[in-house]
Amino acid sequence: MKDVVIAPSILSADFAKLGEEIAQVEAVTSFLHIDIMDGHYVPNLTFGIPVVQSIRKISKMVFDVHLMITNPMDFFEPFAKAGADMLTFHIETVDDPDVAIEAVRKLGKRVGMSIHPDTPIEKILPYVTKCDLILIMSVRPGFGGQHFMEESLSRIAAVRKVIDENGADTVISVDGGICRDTASRVVASGANYLVAGSAVFSNDDHARAVEELLQCAKS
Ligand code: DX5
Ligand code: ZN
Repeated sequence: MKDVVIAPSILSADFAKLGEEIAQVEAVTSFLHIDIMDGHYVPNLTFGIPVVQSIRKISKMVFDVHLMITNPMDFFEPFAKAGADMLTFHIETVDDPDVAIEAVRKLGKRVGMSIHPDTPIEKILPYVTKCDLILIMSVRPGFGGQHFMEESLSRIAAVRKVIDENGADTVISVDGGICRDTASRVVASGANYLVAGSAVFSNDDHARAVEELLQCAKS
């Protein structure tokens, strides 16, 4: 994937009308970011497998499931069966990242690996070319609506360097604090997959918000 894409994060959607919220963004983008939180790896809870199963029935979008949970290996298969297309786990939550990558591949799903802002970026570099996507957290995981951490830009650039040096096509995702201002800067640093929660769903016209973010990202 060379083009820049926006993946709305349903964390900031109105759950009373989740189907309608997804339909609005599905009109303008193909990727949906789904945050799973367990109250252990992050100090917050969201939702689980039944919600993914339900929205799978009403959407053809690529489901990008972001597992912010301490035991992701236990949940790869249930989320794959529920309809995930891509499973992203945190490097901090697995004993052996290679084993986790292989477990996702065996399920026939795309592999994403994420890194917490407190973890040195060097930790993830050996795995960059083995994954379909590297998700660089640009806020402390757990909540929407936080401010973008500027130090994320050099972390994105470090991952981009490895991808380009190896001629790989791993996608670089950035998650947290993406808005019209930060969108162009993360792309300039090498990101090409921008997760956006509040910037999309706090705007009454979600589709328009996605398109505006995309324009900023490409400018
Ligand atoms: C935070 C989540 C994000 C969140 C981003 O831990 O992983 O996906 O939805 O929200 P915004 O875009 O509002 O920073
Ligand atoms: Zn996320």
